Amino acid sequence: MEISEIKNLFFQETKEAQDVKALENIRIKYLGRRDGLLTKVLRSLKDLPIEEKKRVGPAANGLRQEIEERLGLRLKELTKESSRISGIDLTMPGKKVKFGHLHPLTLIENRIKEIFLGMNFSVVEGPEIETEHYNFDALNIPENHPARDMWDTFWLKLTNDQQPITNNSREPLVVSRELLRTHTSPMQIRYMEKRQPPFQIIVPGRVFRFEATDASHEINFHQVEGLMIGEDVNLANFKYVIEQFFHRLFSPHVQIRFRPSYFPFVEPGLEVDIKLTDNKQQTTNDSHKPLAAGNKSEWLEVMGAGMVHPKVLGGVGYNPKYVQGFAFGLGLERLAMIKYKIPDIRLFYSGDLRFINQF
Ligand code: FA5
Repeated sequence: MEISEIKNLFFQETKEAQDVKALENIRIKYLGRRDGLLTKVLRSLKDLPIEEKKRVGPAANGLRQEIEERLGLRLKELTKESSRISGIDLTMPGKKVKFGHLHPLTLIENRIKEIFLGMNFSVVEGPEIETEHYNFDALNIPENHPARDMWDTFWLKLTNDQQPITNNSREPLVVSRELLRTHTSPMQIRYMEKRQPPFQIIVPGRVFRFEATDASHEINFHQVEGLMIGEDVNLANFKYVIEQFFHRLFSPHVQIRFRPSYFPFVEPGLEVDIKLTDNKQQTTNDSHKPLAAGNKSEWLEVMGAGMVHPKVLGGVGYNPKYVQGFAFGLGLERLAMIKYKIPDIRLFYSGDLRFINQF
């Protein structure tokens, strides 16, 4: 077939092609590797006398280019046509997909869990609605004890058909009112009632206090309780665990200080302060965000702690002569504020995307 014939035929068929499939068949018919009409011409070039080759060669190659271009254009037309019919414009630019991400409190909670799991602690959780018994009495905070003022409480009203709870098998007749837990410490009791030492646990969770809010106080915040009980668990063990914890959470340069304090369920009781040293010296294990310096000259109070009171151990049926241990309760928001340089605790619950999107 002459080149000009091939060309005419090709243009005619391409014009008539109604869909992409038909166009593909045309491509195969003319340019197909084995039997394409033009392919055959091109393949035969090598057997032609030199004069013929000079004539046919450029024409065939030129046609090949023309065919490829025409096929490309026709393909575009047909695609547009088919997407117009189906209502989808395939030539529109794509939409950017937005991914969600973790809240800063979740980030720091995950990191804290990771650090304690690495020290062989287990993670357990307890109920947010508690009884007066677990939140106060079993922790050596009886009614009328002045220490109850330390925790301003949201009490729950009993509805008419609800019976007050008699919760503890050891004191079956004690009626216990319900409340929103003011700290994670009640989980110490719940856990010890069911387990025998030795063990070490942390208890992350939400707690509630009926108090005025300001830049460092919320009515609804989070704590992480820690409890380690065994035959000879002592304050030196606590010091080591807590130092390790802060070194891993912040940096090996963080300074730690213990101050005597009072909580009815520990003896002795103490509070832990930390101080972050010069930003330049700091390194951090957490690659997510650069370490916040806080105010570098300030001691920041981050947790209450102490050796579990013998009365508390006795109350759950342990013999305080043979087992002992430490407990601590840290404020999750306070640590997140230090780590991520957040000036106001109320930002965590503001739902403000300008804040959240920074993490
Ligand atoms: C307690 O709640 C004790 N249960 C801690 C404890 C556990 C002591 C085990 C001994 C043994 P305190 O009320 O200090 O302690 O609270 C502990 C931490 O919670 C504080 O250091 C602080 O970081 C945080 N916190 C307390 N109140 C608020 C609040 N209103 N808003 C945000 N964080 C708070």
